Amino acid sequence: MAATLIDGRAVARSLKEELSVRASEMIARGVMPHLAVVLVGENPASQVYVRNKENACVKAGIRSTVIRLAEDCAQQELEDVVASLNADGGVHGILVQLPLPGHLDEARVLRMIDPNKDVDGFHAMNSGRLMNGQPGFVPCTPLGVMKLLEAYDIPVRGKHAVVIGRSNIVGKPMAMLLLAADATVTICHSRTQNLAEITRQADILVAAVGRADFVTGDMVKPGAVVIDVGINRVEGKLVGDVDFESVSAVAGYLTPVPGGVGQMTIAMLLANTLDAAGGRGE
Ligand code: GUN
Repeated sequence: MAATLIDGRAVARSLKEELSVRASEMIARGVMPHLAVVLVGENPASQVYVRNKENACVKAGIRSTVIRLAEDCAQQELEDVVASLNADGGVHGILVQLPLPGHLDEARVLRMIDPNKDVDGFHAMNSGRLMNGQPGFVPCTPLGVMKLLEAYDIPVRGKHAVVIGRSNIVGKPMAMLLLAADATVTICHSRTQNLAEITRQADILVAAVGRADFVTGDMVKPGAVVIDVGINRVEGKLVGDVDFESVSAVAGYLTPVPGGVGQMTIAMLLANTLDAAGGRGE
């Protein structure tokens, strides 16, 4: 039997409707929620992501400002921009689009962002809060995955969740969120031995590897929930980390690419921005 497809677009749409109501209530109380996005250079994928974020803000009634810096911008110039956004009381959320050009010190820039404006949840203060079970900003993509599981009433407690990928943006926070929801969590990565043996034990399998069609049907337990976080461009077409054809024949649930997790990431960014404007994390 073919897997049930998880419709991230539909879940994100209804979340965004709720968020735009929240935004208008905030505006009526005299607070204009405001996200500032810093984009350095000309990376084509980053430009698309930033445009999508801008459009989503406008649609939800959230103010968005994009600060564009040249590809060869100096570290100091970027840090000055972040410092001025930190100091600007009219800016609630700050997002520095990654990856930055190679000559810039990404970790240093992320550390500079005020943790209370860190709507990406990449600051060590917020990853520490997540690890300790304290409220803070949670990275948008893994947060979106949890909301999708919730929206489809997929139980997490006591289940074996396997996350493939250990990035700070997805893999590690994803594992922490699943753990906080009482899953038994295994993190796999590029050095994991006998990967398929482990993934076949997963009730919930999250693929965040960044390699097209990496997870195949033989790596999946029949009936498992498979979440595809990958966005890979192959011959101009967007494909995930999961080989849709073979996995959809085995899995119980599957997120398609596009139309799965991607839409949720932006919805969570809007939610985090409204939280920031409402004083979350202070
Ligand atoms: N680049 C790819 N995904 C992301 C993200 O979620 N946030 C930022 N800042 N950059 C990214």
